[in-house]
Amino acid sequence: MSNIQSLRGMKDILDKNSELFTYFIDNASKIASRYGFSYLETPILEETALFKRSVGESSDIVGKEMYQFIDKGENDVCLRPEGTAGVVRMFVQNKLDRAGGTRKYFYHGPMFRYERPQKGRLREFHQFGCESFGESNVYEDANIILMISEILSFFKIEYNLQLNSLGCKECMPSYKENLVKHLEGLSLCSDCDRRVLTNPIRVLDCKNDSCQNELKDAPKITNSLCSICDTDFEKLKVILDKNNITYEVDSNLVRGLDYYTKTAFEFVSTNIGAQSAIAGGGRYDRLVEFLGGRETSAIGFAIGIERLLELIIKNETKEEVLYIGAMSEDAIDTVFTKVSQKRKELKVITDYKVRGFGKHLNNAQKLGATTVALVGENEIKDNTIWIKKLETKEEQTISLDEF
Ligand code: HAM
Repeated sequence: MSNIQSLRGMKDILDKNSELFTYFIDNASKIASRYGFSYLETPILEETALFKRSVGESSDIVGKEMYQFIDKGENDVCLRPEGTAGVVRMFVQNKLDRAGGTRKYFYHGPMFRYERPQKGRLREFHQFGCESFGESNVYEDANIILMISEILSFFKIEYNLQLNSLGCKECMPSYKENLVKHLEGLSLCSDCDRRVLTNPIRVLDCKNDSCQNELKDAPKITNSLCSICDTDFEKLKVILDKNNITYEVDSNLVRGLDYYTKTAFEFVSTNIGAQSAIAGGGRYDRLVEFLGGRETSAIGFAIGIERLLELIIKNETKEEVLYIGAMSEDAIDTVFTKVSQKRKELKVITDYKVRGFGKHLNNAQKLGATTVALVGENEIKDNTIWIKKLETKEEQTISLDEF
């Protein structure tokens, strides 16, 4: 009988990765709290209709990638493919749209998309996200972008920021009409043919080279914004400039979810291969209404935690890990005392087995130590400890007190 494996595109998070995972969550949460966001959890399983109405039936996420099933009570449900829809459902369900004022939430947890797994693309992955409700001022857009930039800088991650404005309910429909007119007669892929009918702006960010070639002369949304959207977009750029955030305007950036209006953005890394988006988000001023609530301005983002961890690991300078071992029975007590003292400063690995010199060195290497310290009969007699730095191979014997 073969052993049971985890499902394709789903991974256990353990050892180094789980340590970094909690390190990331702790620090990103602290930053989000400083920006006035409070922690929220919503269920992982929701009604399928929630995602159809928000993320949109034209999106690949809803059209092709949902983990959808009928539960024992005949409800059509699915594992959440993203976090925003559930937060907006919660917002409307709790009548927060009627309460007025601003509300800001952060969350993290697993998301599920039945995509073709590859490096950086999983079927179960984790997001850290923030959603801000009730603030229409473009300063909030800048605030969100500054917060993401602060989180990425905290973890020393370099990024490129791509920015666009998708317009509002006044200017987006006429742009879509113009675009559809332009698309007539172009030879596009079958996915784009479907998008023309469901959400034509999604054609703009098709990854297919021949579609991109056909789209060379397509009208640009940034040239079709109404005066309010245009003024806000210009203002956002000025605020970002003043705060030393560099960005690139990409008028083809429409994002893979249908709920965006006005500001849309993506943070992209050049260091992790094809799946380069590490965070994405934007304004979704109409979504509360689409889910049955009162019109409420909103903006948010999500960071892909697995992609970020890969970058953190790449940047990391090796953590100091000390291995202390006993080479004789009478050294165990000294080892125990020294381990307890050293653990106040750094990570220390040990056990209480007497081993020979070579075996200790092998063991230390296997466990990822950077320095090995050993105590045997001679060291106990002389009150010393033998130390070797594994990277430089430098060795020395020093007094136990000095150690
Ligand atoms: P999204 O761009 O679909 O946006 O996902 C956000 C981030 O999740 C991506 O930039 C990426 O880092 C990560 N991600 C997405 N799919 C995968 C995957 N299959 N494997 C690994 N990582 C992945 C949203 O989900 C929106 N809810 C963001 C948002 C919040 N917009 C407004 N508020």
